[in-house]
Amino acid sequence: MNVSGEQIRELLEGLKKSENEKEISPKYFYDERGSQLFDKITRLPEYYPTDTEIDIMRSNIDEIVELIGPKASIIEFGAGSSVKVRILLENLRELAAFVPVDISEDHLLAAAEEMRKEFPDVPIHPVAADFTKPFDLPSPEVTPIRNIVFFPGSTIGNFTEDDALELLKVMHHEAGEGGALLIGVDLQKDPKIIEDAYNDSQGVTAEFNRNMLRHLNREFGADFDVSSFKHDARYDEDEGRVVLRLISEKRQAVNIGGEEVTIAKNEGILTEYSHKYTLEGFAAMAAAAGFRVEKVWTDPERLFSVQFLVRD
Ligand code: AVI
Repeated sequence: MNVSGEQIRELLEGLKKSENEKEISPKYFYDERGSQLFDKITRLPEYYPTDTEIDIMRSNIDEIVELIGPKASIIEFGAGSSVKVRILLENLRELAAFVPVDISEDHLLAAAEEMRKEFPDVPIHPVAADFTKPFDLPSPEVTPIRNIVFFPGSTIGNFTEDDALELLKVMHHEAGEGGALLIGVDLQKDPKIIEDAYNDSQGVTAEFNRNMLRHLNREFGADFDVSSFKHDARYDEDEGRVVLRLISEKRQAVNIGGEEVTIAKNEGILTEYSHKYTLEGFAAMAAAAGFRVEKVWTDPERLFSVQFLVRD
């Protein structure tokens, strides 16, 4: 990763906030080790979203294929190498293109190469871009009948509600006339199920959370005392979101980007929100972005949803 002045400024802005308002963007979770740890999270018994979403997709694939129709272009927001997009590519007929979109070009191109080997008949056109802002789509040889934006994993939940709305608007724009969005959305439920998913018994999520500081120490020359931070994840039922923090067990001065920030004993740094939605709440936000919910699939316990939204 190339460290830019802009990144340092943004980090310092978050860390210089007053006590208990400090924050670090969740994008710093994902260095190589962080991506491996997240992968491990998705296989934990307590972390229900991944398996549940895969089960929902597999159980309803015929209907999903029917709704998408032939000769679609699948635009995945994210690197596009997961089991979930494979379920689509294995089942859709006469795909016009698969377009994975990701900011990390190396990772994107490696994933696209892998997918080309597995799906030699699918035209694969990776786009290296920050998908939170509008970007240009490639022109595949076969003109797609419609664009389907694919955004699995309930990653939408990691955006604040304002940013989630903005992102849905970008998806609306990229879907274009007649396009649609296939999206995974985690649902509000028994808080115990949610809290267990973010406080797993093997401590993988705690390690994932703390690894962010290791990443900053390495890439930004910071000197957080990583082992003095405790993982904290609570579900705020009123806000409908999990709040992840790192709590400093001692007062410490941290050097980063040539500046020093003081973190008080027991002070928490916000590292992530993971919003959980009601079906009504998500439909209202989708409507504000110009989408109508055409179909919702859930699991029998209504833990998670996969939704097909069309442009209004
Ligand atoms: C990537 N995202 C959907 C995960 C989530 O559940 O919000 C990130 C995560 N953070 C802790 N565990 C998983």
